[in-house]
Amino acid sequence: MTNITLEPNGKPLGPKVLGLDLGQEVPEADFAEVQRLYEEYGVIVIPGQDISPQDLIRFSKRFSELVRFPMVQFNLPEEPDILVVSNVIEDGKPIGVGDAGRCWHTDMWYTDNPPRGSLLHAREVPVKDGRALGDTMFASTAHAYDTLPADLKKLVNGRSATFSHDFHAEWRAAKAAEQADDKSAARKTRSATSIPDIKHPLVKTHPVTGRDCLYVSEGAIVGVDGMEHAEAMALVDELLAHVTREEAVYRHNWKVGDLVMWDNYSCLHCAIADFPSSMRRRMYRTTIR
Ligand code: OGA
Ligand code: MN
Repeated sequence: MTNITLEPNGKPLGPKVLGLDLGQEVPEADFAEVQRLYEEYGVIVIPGQDISPQDLIRFSKRFSELVRFPMVQFNLPEEPDILVVSNVIEDGKPIGVGDAGRCWHTDMWYTDNPPRGSLLHAREVPVKDGRALGDTMFASTAHAYDTLPADLKKLVNGRSATFSHDFHAEWRAAKAAEQADDKSAARKTRSATSIPDIKHPLVKTHPVTGRDCLYVSEGAIVGVDGMEHAEAMALVDELLAHVTREEAVYRHNWKVGDLVMWDNYSCLHCAIADFPSSMRRRMYRTTIR
């Protein structure tokens, strides 16, 4: 018996999981159910959580050990296993990462063993005319693989792609400059450190569920093994378009207290930057191995 009820949303991912209070120790049966739902959907929403950073850490640690974000200045000082995702500037310094991913991505694809997933808890959300801004979109890569046409499946199975952090930094800077009024400010977001390119298979088998998932990220792939550049880029674009089809995308409109958990194997996500820097957004993230 669990206290949990599920509120589906008609999409392959992102249902609401109700009946939890993460401010308390979650009973074993409820936790097992949360874990099962996380595996089944790849993204779950646990709304209404008025919790402390310590509560977030305690709940996250029940899934696995945590992965600490390497740019330590963005971690919460009193709980460094929490990454602050925020546009807020305090005493002239950003309190967190302002842009944690305004394109379709999985977290930490530039590492050889990207973490399983993340939990993001909303503390402050920008609101305009009664509607929250700064939504996050999620798209199921497991559903995308299942629904991939047979010829494309054949093309991607067993094939790897080269992901480039350096290329991505340039790509992001160019995109930001296109959108920003202040082009020099956008250029400054470019990372100074160089991270080596890395290969990932285009199809990853989920380590827990065994489901095959497409593994792609926007503006990250610079080549596909055994394919010419133009052909490879066209394939990547086609895969991304397939993953992010409207019918397969869940768009989360945040409320303070929402906790959203995603799985980096079975979904892509994308932050929508549709609010001005004068409006505060502050989220706390933990990353599970
Ligand atoms: C992240 C991320 C999206 C958002 O924290 O990894 O992509 O909407 N966040 O802040
Ligand atoms: Mn992300």
